[in-house]
Parts: sequence; C-alpha cells; structure tokens
Amino acid sequence: MLQFDTIAGLRQQLKSIRSAQSIGLVPTMGALHEGHATLLEAARQENEVVVSSIFVNPVQFNNADDLARYPRTLETDYKLLEGAGCDLVFVPSVPEMYADSPLLRLNFGALETTMEGAFRPGHFNGVGIVVAKLFNIVQPDRAYFGQKDLQQVAVIRRLTKELSFPVELIRCPTIREADGLALSSRNRNLTATEREQAPLLFRALTQSHQMLAGGHSTVQAKNAVQTLFANSPAFTLEYVEVVNADTLQLADEMLAPGQTAICLAAHLGKVRLIDNLVF
Ligand code: PAJ
Repeated sequence: MLQFDTIAGLRQQLKSIRSAQSIGLVPTMGALHEGHATLLEAARQENEVVVSSIFVNPVQFNNADDLARYPRTLETDYKLLEGAGCDLVFVPSVPEMYADSPLLRLNFGALETTMEGAFRPGHFNGVGIVVAKLFNIVQPDRAYFGQKDLQQVAVIRRLTKELSFPVELIRCPTIREADGLALSSRNRNLTATEREQAPLLFRALTQSHQMLAGGHSTVQAKNAVQTLFANSPAFTLEYVEVVNADTLQLADEMLAPGQTAICLAAHLGKVRLIDNLVF
C-alpha cells in the first residue's frame, strides 16, 4: 500500500494509473472498524484501484470537545486498510486540505433542517466541503458510504448531483456488534458500563419498527422510543424521527418497501451515538 500526505503526490500517482482502471474511494476519519472494512471490501470488488482517506475533518465538527476526543489510531488503521486490500491511502494534514479556513458555505436546505443537520449546525457544510474536495482530488468512479450515516448519504447524493460529479455513490449496510450496537469510531470512548447500555438504541429501533409494521402510527412508535429513553437515565435522547430514507423528509406513515427510515441520536455519558433502520 502506498501512502501519501500531499495532494500533489497523490494526484501524480493516480494520473499514472487512471487511464484504463476504475477507482473506488472510501472516505473516512480513521479509528477504523469492521463497518469501514465492509465499505473497502465493496470497493475492492467493484474497482481495479481502491483509494481510502483518513482525515479528521475539523470543518464538520461543531463541538471542539468532540473534535479533541475523536479517536486517532493511525497505525492500526493502516493494518486494517492493508488487510482490506486498499491500494492507496490519503492522510493529509489540516493545512494540506485547508490552507485557509474555507469561505465557501454549503447549505443543503430541507435536507438539513432535521436530525443531524438541526442538532449539529454547520456539520453538513463541513461534510460537503471535504467530500467535494476529495472527489476533486481523487476523481473516483465510485464512492462508498455507510447507511449508518443516512442523512450524510442523502446530502452527498444531492451534492454529487448538483455539482455534476461523475461519481457513482454506493450506500453500504450498517454493520453491528452481536448485541445490535452499530459499529462506530466513537464507541471506543464508551466506558465498560456504557458499552453494556449502548444497545438500547438498536432495541428502540427494532421495537418501533415492529410497532410500525404492526399498524401503529409514527407518533405512537416515536412515543414508545421516547418512553424507553425516559426510563433509562444514563441516556439523553436527542431526536427520534420517521423519515423518507431518500429525501429525509419527515414521514407520517409507512412508505413503500425500503423507503421508510427510523433514525435517532442519543447522548450516553460524553458520547453521542446515532443509528437508524431502513425498512
Ligand atoms: P467516518 O465516521 O469515519 O465514516 C466513514 C464511512 O464509514 C461513512 O460512510 C460511514 O457511514 C461508514 N460507517 C461508519 N460506521 C459504519 C457501520 N457500522 N457500518 C457501515 N458503515 C459505517 O462519515 C465520515 O467518517 C465523515 O463524515 C466523512 C464522510 C469521511 C467526511 O469527513
């Protein structure tokens, strides 16, 4: 695996291999886990060349503590990338990506007035800027993102369409621990007790899914989640919403198969966890 920390070096190398070969990109912020590995495996299967990036993007953090606490495990990340068959990894410094702090502001309108967009102001501006930069730097044929961050997928899909990036986006399923907890880099910051409590998010999602499938209303399903969290003092529920999985607009009822998503975010100690189910 070749490693690069400059845009010019990475571009030079990609130029020499671009001609006939398809390039798959897996953007990450590191602290890699099996969820990231499945994105890399999908990229490996569908492309001749697999490029990943590790960059804890300061512009998408709206909370300085969260940025400072974000886990950084570069040496083990390299091993996971090698194991997953990654060909090139781009690990830029902050000045390499942002010589000046960006003046550009991306506003995703209705896509970011709910959920992550509403509770993390400016987050999707930062995600959009860094992903657009990575698309321009790497010029991939395909890019891989996890369903775990469903609203991020919707925002990036829109960005790709509106700016005409010639990139096919692939949404990969959420990988979970045996007890249902969605894998996340932030799980490393949970204490042992919190780790035992954390599967409540998945239990809440499956319970509300069953309620919706059984004919209950979205209001009843959301109320049940709110009650579950109200009875679990270790957690603070931030939001629970039933939405259209593609447009992220709030849904009042079950939509066509594969189109309804129930999404939630909750704080457990110092860690903020998100999860969703699409059904
Ligand atoms: P990061 O949180 O490192 O996630 C990188 C990719 O891995 C994202 O597409 C995310 O949805 C996916 N992912 C995370 N957990 C997953 C899981 N349990 N199962 C499947 N996929 C999972 O998301 C980001 O970084 C950043 O916002 C980024 C897109 C890199 C822009 O900075």
